[in-house]
Amino acid sequence: MVVNPANPAPASPPLPALAVKPQHVAIIMDGNGRWAQSQGLSRSDGHRAGADAIRPVIRRFAEHQVPVVTLFGFSTENWGRPKAEIETILKLGAEFIDSHLDELNQNGVRVAHLGGTDRLPIWLRRRVKKAVEATSHNDGILVNLAFNYGGRDEILDAVKRMLADGLKPGDVTPEALEARLTTAGLPDVDLLVRTGGEQRVSNFLVWQSTYAEYYFTPKFWPEFDPEEVDAALLEFAHRHRRFGLVAPDEGD
Ligand code: IPE
Ligand code: IPE
Ligand code: MG
Repeated sequence: MVVNPANPAPASPPLPALAVKPQHVAIIMDGNGRWAQSQGLSRSDGHRAGADAIRPVIRRFAEHQVPVVTLFGFSTENWGRPKAEIETILKLGAEFIDSHLDELNQNGVRVAHLGGTDRLPIWLRRRVKKAVEATSHNDGILVNLAFNYGGRDEILDAVKRMLADGLKPGDVTPEALEARLTTAGLPDVDLLVRTGGEQRVSNFLVWQSTYAEYYFTPKFWPEFDPEEVDAALLEFAHRHRRFGLVAPDEGD
């Protein structure tokens, strides 16, 4: 990994060996506000600490050679929050791209955006476009930034596209719908991590997480670090996935 000498990353802990690795990890980065409260800080401080937590986590997944990581940064429902908080989160999104794009690029990270851009302010839209274009030829880990993302909207948009493409009822298949999702071509989510103690999906990747393994941790997002990544991956490696079938060693 290339390290910017002006801002060296701390040495990584040794990598635990993993028998099975997820191909796609999705993370609901929750708990910034409660973390801030626990520290006597403002919610804005919590979101800032949350933004700072992202880089070491991406780095750790890259070290584990997990090919796709999707980060939930702002949901379609989050527009209902106070205006000032929304502004803080959007600004932090732009700042994250400004301060990390070069390093992500140097490390071969490919950045994609999940969610509508129409409602995002123009200065954020420009940043997102720049990050996606600047990294589009990289072949390292793919990081999907889900920003103004909602799972139901995404499915509805795919249905509208099928109608616009003139599909007949018989052509409406899981494959036809998947090809019109923003995650088209990506593996389904294998591991869905949610920080902050809540055990719900909150409209994140509802189609793609049908057979995901869920990992809930009480740690608030700003506390989620490379060791927490390892813990989630180790837990995943011990899960017994059946996909509705009977495992060969479980027969009569
Ligand atoms: C997650 O932290 C960040 C966003 C939803 C944008 P929260 O802001 O939801 O923090 P809590 O859940 O209130 O602690
Ligand atoms: C989910 O967290 C959205 C993000 C982390 C971006 P929320 O804090 O918005 O979810 P709820 O309100 O607890 O379901
Ligand atoms: Mg929350």
